[in-house]
Amino acid sequence: MDKLSITGGNPLSGRLRVSGAKNSTLPILAGTLLTDQPVTICNAPHLHDVTTMIELLGSLGVEVVVDEKLNVEVCARSLGELLAPYELVKTMRASFLVLGPLVARFGQAKVSLPGGCAIGSRPVDQHLKGLEAMGADIEVVDGYVLAKAPAGLTGRDVYMDVVTVGGTQNLMMAACLARGTTRLYNCAQEPEVVDLGNFLATLGAKIQGYGSSVIEIQGVESLHGGTHMVMPDRVEAGTYLVAAAATGGCIRVVDADPTTLTAVLEKLQQAGARITTGDDWIELDMRDRQLRAVDIETAPYPGFPTDMQAQFMALNAVAEGAATIRETIFENRFMHVQEINRLGANIEVHGQSMAVVHGVDGLTGAPVMATDLRASSSLVIAALVAHGTTVIDRIYHIDRGYETIEEKLQQVGAQVQRVS
Ligand code: EPZ
Repeated sequence: MDKLSITGGNPLSGRLRVSGAKNSTLPILAGTLLTDQPVTICNAPHLHDVTTMIELLGSLGVEVVVDEKLNVEVCARSLGELLAPYELVKTMRASFLVLGPLVARFGQAKVSLPGGCAIGSRPVDQHLKGLEAMGADIEVVDGYVLAKAPAGLTGRDVYMDVVTVGGTQNLMMAACLARGTTRLYNCAQEPEVVDLGNFLATLGAKIQGYGSSVIEIQGVESLHGGTHMVMPDRVEAGTYLVAAAATGGCIRVVDADPTTLTAVLEKLQQAGARITTGDDWIELDMRDRQLRAVDIETAPYPGFPTDMQAQFMALNAVAEGAATIRETIFENRFMHVQEINRLGANIEVHGQSMAVVHGVDGLTGAPVMATDLRASSSLVIAALVAHGTTVIDRIYHIDRGYETIEEKLQQVGAQVQRVS
């Protein structure tokens, strides 16, 4: 099992390129099931989760070709068994996003329930409620969702009880081929929802309002093919900016979109960083500046993203003063705390959703273990600050969401290497 060995103390300095967004690529790949025409997805990141989604499409009978520039060419002309098996869905819950497209286009699907994961129970009740409202017959048997809509789906007004990114995406896709108009209320407004909406519109979907809380879709007979460039990964960009702030460095992330990171950049400025931005780059300068602890409360977009909570925990661990971090989206997203405390941090967790971080003068390297994707990135940040060497185990978690992380960190001066 690979590990990352990091010797901390170097301020990060230089520039690095941000890859395409994992959380945009995955729903967009699922969306290719909506058409029998060829689709090309550009700027997809080379990540384990993307490979898993491509495997799933292949198992459904979809032709997938990844070219030398890592563009993914997909053609879902003729599919085999409309089954998303537990073996694949349990390793990558975003596989559940094939449900809406399959039911909408083929009138049936058998998709494994994703089950819980390290950070929470993560139910999919809103996905199922919406499909039922649109006329699908939904049964859950032996851990699988059996969905049937032999006469197709019907456009409806659907009110989601919870703001859910995946639920919004599954229902947006299903509605594209439904008969009549669907209005989705209480939608997630994340940039990845916007990117999916743009992709669907490129294929000829009649969809508007994505990025707001109400999305309206006029169903069409069929969608055509097209090409889509995946948006930059805002969480990857944010992670490297936090690493630069925590290490007192100065980096520029390029091929990034600052308009998708407003809440994060605001918090980095509050923490003492000097931030400058351009259309496709963000620069953070923390040289000779005092790092100050910042209070964080996660919320659906445009609020502070839950996927950046763990990274700011690491930043606060070595900042001046104390701060509270409140996690409102997932019920178990503080597993990084005990690991960062092994490096000498002083973080107290109160209940399931609040932590108090008392900044300390420094951290000391030690062996730690990654538990989930974003927790592992916070351990990387803590290790980059710690004196001495930290070895992070189970870094397959990192490989799910950060493309070539050691090469990118080495480019900006980090002492990091992958060890087996
Ligand atoms: C997406 O997960 C992201 N994953 C997550 O990123 C991200 O943390 C999350 O959105 C929130 O922004 C992908 O896009 C692949 P949700 P998703 O449905 O869609 C509850 C990462 O690190 N809920 O918005 O699964 C749920 O329990 C990952 O890259 C229901 O109650 O998240 C949670 O409390 C982690 N019923 C809240 O909503 C439902 O039917 C938000 O979940 C669906 C969700």
